Amino acid sequence: MSDFETIIYEKKDGLAYVTLNRPQALNAYNIKMRDELYQVLGAIKDDPEVRVGIFRGAGERAFCAGADLSEFLSAPSPIVARQVRWERDIWGLFLGVAKPLIAALHGYVLGSGIEIALCCDIRLASEDIQFGLPEPQLGIIPAAGGSQTLPRVIGGDKALEILLSGRWIKAEEARRLKLVNRVVPREKLFNEAERLAQKIAGFDPVAVASAKQAITRGLDLSLEQGLELEVRLAGAITR
Ligand code: COA
Repeated sequence: MSDFETIIYEKKDGLAYVTLNRPQALNAYNIKMRDELYQVLGAIKDDPEVRVGIFRGAGERAFCAGADLSEFLSAPSPIVARQVRWERDIWGLFLGVAKPLIAALHGYVLGSGIEIALCCDIRLASEDIQFGLPEPQLGIIPAAGGSQTLPRVIGGDKALEILLSGRWIKAEEARRLKLVNRVVPREKLFNEAERLAQKIAGFDPVAVASAKQAITRGLDLSLEQGLELEVRLAGAITR
């Protein structure tokens, strides 16, 4: 699992570390990265040794500057470029991982970068963070889940305003909007993410997976259905 071109995948003491690794292109998400991420997510999902995943970006400047524009520009149109990306349901896989995923975000987090972050359960950001959704300016819309995940996190009105205005968001506002759980100094970002992951990895994995499911699936249900889900999940935990 270590021979990837665009990703570094490491596993240690119950934690899976996924580093988007195209720093020369600000970790822009290209088709190769899609395929490699798909494999890595499958490994995180199915490997019983993995308790928690941590996602980060290589280099000083970005977690991920969005879709690779050179692929966009060489495709017949942005729409075709986008369709190529749908060949694998990577976002369905991402959102279906039952284990907690933590994003350690720094620098530029644009387009697909935000969408990757939104597929994670906990988002920590450093003070130099800059979020942006440039898709409408490129004649497309977020289609890596972002049009659905962003409003679920920050509310429909804010999501719409940010998407339509094309304005970028810095650390303090991201924290206020609850787009990120916490802002930490850059030099502490990775350690904070790792510390949190280690703590969660020490808990019972079934309880952790059930807690994640209860909250994330419950959000899409009525209260009544959500309470039924909670009963089912709680009942399935046997000691
Ligand atoms: N796709 C492909 N390459 C990208 C990229 C992307 N989304 N974002 C940055 N890069 C590359 C640049 O082409 C440049 O490569 P080069 O050194 O070979 O010329 C390198 O990363 C550094 O980026 P650069 O633009 O020189 O840095 P900057 O500090 O001037 O600007 C950004 C940084 C993020 C503002 C700018 O790169 C940008 O606007 N990127 C595109 C963001 C975007 O629209 N993403 C698509 C979302 S759907």
